[in-house]
Amino acid sequence: MRFGSLAFAAALLAAPALSAELPRLETKNGNHALLVDGQPFLVLGAQVNNSSAWPAALPKVWPVVNQLHANTVQVPIAWEQIEPTEGKFDFSFLDQLLKEARANDKRLILLWFATWKNTSPNYTPAWVKLDNKRFPRMLDAKGETHYALSPFARSTLEADKRAFVKLMQHLKANDPQNTVIVVQVQNEAGTYRSARDYSPEANRLFAAPVPEAVRTYFRKGPGNWTKLFGRDAELYFHSWAVASYIDAVAAAGKAVKPLPMYANAALQSDPFGWQDPNTFASGGPSHAVIDVWKASAPHIDWVSPDIYNPDHKAYLEFLRHYARPDNPLFVAETGNGKEYARYFFATLGKNAIGFSPFGMDATGYSNFPLGAPKISEETLAAFGRTYQLFAPMQGVWAKAAAEGKVWGVAEPTDPAAKHTQTMDLGKYKATVTFGRPQFGMDAPRGNEWPSGGLAVAQLGPDEYLVTGFNARIEFALTNPGKDQLLFNRVEEGHYVDGKWVFERLWNGDQTDYGLNFTGAQQVLRVTLASIR
Ligand code: DGJ
Repeated sequence: MRFGSLAFAAALLAAPALSAELPRLETKNGNHALLVDGQPFLVLGAQVNNSSAWPAALPKVWPVVNQLHANTVQVPIAWEQIEPTEGKFDFSFLDQLLKEARANDKRLILLWFATWKNTSPNYTPAWVKLDNKRFPRMLDAKGETHYALSPFARSTLEADKRAFVKLMQHLKANDPQNTVIVVQVQNEAGTYRSARDYSPEANRLFAAPVPEAVRTYFRKGPGNWTKLFGRDAELYFHSWAVASYIDAVAAAGKAVKPLPMYANAALQSDPFGWQDPNTFASGGPSHAVIDVWKASAPHIDWVSPDIYNPDHKAYLEFLRHYARPDNPLFVAETGNGKEYARYFFATLGKNAIGFSPFGMDATGYSNFPLGAPKISEETLAAFGRTYQLFAPMQGVWAKAAAEGKVWGVAEPTDPAAKHTQTMDLGKYKATVTFGRPQFGMDAPRGNEWPSGGLAVAQLGPDEYLVTGFNARIEFALTNPGKDQLLFNRVEEGHYVDGKWVFERLWNGDQTDYGLNFTGAQQVLRVTLASIR
């Protein structure tokens, strides 16, 4: 008996790893936190190249993601890889990945490449992609076989779901410490060159009443797709079909292990105007159909943009579309060219839970012109310095973001912006300028290349955490009246385990012309005050 209870006590002591708190998304008052080990977590992410998810490629991954100071790596898990023969599963790569990620102190986001990978079925096993009878492709408007799988084929959905469930069972059994924090379900789903499926089943459903969940979400009375959604009928219909399919896969996986799950979007080229669905990945979670996805995929915690458009205005507009009270912003992919690194700051300014440049490994592939021509030291340094700055304080930052108290800007390139961005902090406003000498009031001229970014988090009523690169920040009272604003105290320091460590005060030249950030790793705690 005594030994029995000792064994029981020993089992309890060993229990923490087994009962580790599951990662989850928490939303309060329209602000979001990704909780990992029970604490708000900021994903400082890096995504590997598509063909780097093999044991032989991993040695070319870790040095790069370590150099980047990333805390999370996104890695594909392909259906063809885990179920090459129907019903026979092979998780040897996943086991290796888990082991190596832990040894490198990284969390993982797994990318389920299955029915849709950049809309195509190329990552389905041969027994799926070669059997067009059992796993039919869509028909296009002319009734011809399209390249993408039909979202209405029950056989395909059931087979995809079965494999995904096996994956989640494997994680449940082999990842009690939740090295895998999030799962992306499919990759850039949807279809190019056809607004929707035109198979007989699809045509029947297109003419049938719109399902109640969609109608209720859009506050519409009964009617078919054309009647309720007019010009957008085909796009909405196809989005509902794809989202419902992915939702069913996610729901089955979550029933095994309820990790946060999301879907990523191949974006429309134009974030501002209406676009014909035949010209982008129709059905995927592009900004025009986020609402359809919300109505149709309740098990998908968020939808994410893959942003490969370097234009400042367009980038900000995509961020705006995806940062919503019902959708946390997570930039699931972005270009790895050095000029994209500064958008980390603008992304943070939208209360984001994470950011991840694509194609970050040393396998020698470059997706130029989407990304850098080469994964050079320069491109690694641009992202690496940013993650290095935030890694020691990611928890502090994520907590402020969860309270809706963060702001951030990236250097603009549009001449009309005059190398200037502003932030409305409520009681205060801040002006951020780019390309000025540290001393004096010369007009901003922009940096040599768009490298500037700056972020602010509110820590107390008049106290702000301020950091960035290649930028100057100046504060003003929003409603000054007769009041004069001054710096009460500007501390430079750093965080260790979430605790502030003071290094020195900034004053004199260092504060007289605003606070200037160079390429150095500098974090300030700024206390503002006013006198009359
Ligand atoms: C977006 C996709 O999601 C990625 O897997 C990759 O194909 C890039 N496009 C292009 O390199």
